Amino acid sequence: MFNFRKNEKIPTQQGEGKVIAFMNQKGGVGKTTMAYNTARALSEKGHKVLCLDMDPQFNFSSLFGYDSETHTHNIFHLMINSIRELKSLHTGILLSEAIIKTDTGVDLIPSGQELSGFELTVAGINSPRQLVLKKFIDKNRLREYYDYIVIDGPPTLGLLVVNILCAVDGVLFPFIPDSFSEQGLKNIQEVLLDIEDMGIVQTPKNLGYIPNLFETRRKQANEDFKNIQNTFPDAHVFQPFANKANFAKSMSCGKSVFDFQAKDYKELQTQFLKMATEIEEQL
Ligand SMILES: Nc1ncnc2c1ncn2[C@@H]1O[C@H](COP(=O)(O)OP(=O)(O)O)[C@@H](O)[C@H]1O
Ligand SMILES: [Mg+2]
Repeated sequence: MFNFRKNEKIPTQQGEGKVIAFMNQKGGVGKTTMAYNTARALSEKGHKVLCLDMDPQFNFSSLFGYDSETHTHNIFHLMINSIRELKSLHTGILLSEAIIKTDTGVDLIPSGQELSGFELTVAGINSPRQLVLKKFIDKNRLREYYDYIVIDGPPTLGLLVVNILCAVDGVLFPFIPDSFSEQGLKNIQEVLLDIEDMGIVQTPKNLGYIPNLFETRRKQANEDFKNIQNTFPDAHVFQPFANKANFAKSMSCGKSVFDFQAKDYKELQTQFLKMATEIEEQL
């Protein structure tokens, strides 16, 4: 079903599926945690979901049982295979061989360390380097096969990030409410403006900011939240996520909050389902 069709003209935006990404230049803010649980929430709501790991550190992939020793095919190879000019580097891997399927109904295209060499590898090509991921998604008609494609972004600001932003319909920004983390957000907004200036793709929609590791127990928590909303007057701010030990625990054993029944997890499930609804409504 996912065979590469060589020399096929690139179709644009086929299918109704939506592509979203969790982005922040800063690491440790919850991109992977949010991407994973939101993907599961969208799946719980009946959508067919594909996760796409675009971080060379492949934490997202590890949650799906990916092992860099045994899985030799990843998004790097698939993207390179889709660039005709780089024929000498093609590996002939099929998308169907790279996709990891799980019994939760959520599929994954893994990342790998090789992805950190993406920028260098495509440095000399003539076709638009910013559009490699977009063309890959379009060529393989992934929007026809999946309702949502959920991308986990890298903690960098380079060509990978530009490729992601050129390929998505909407972006979500998890962040820790402190000035350091907010600077990481400002930088990525600049990249979004650059993309708007390029004018070759539709600028993705800012789906909202996700305050994470929020100190809900502070007396002035309500005030803190209002301040965050005032910081981003033109965008949606999702309900903040508190620092929850259970959260980190579930992630460390590769599980989502939907894999547990305890009360604490039920609350998180409700929160992620609400976030999924707010994403659906905006796209
Ligand atoms: N709300 C939270 N409560 C507790 N731990 C969290 C929370 N959000 C993220 N974490 C933990 O913080 C660490 C970094 O999160 P991660 O999603 O990997 O961030 P990023 O992908 O932005 O680097 C992980 O160990 C994760 O389990
Ligand atoms: Mg991550």
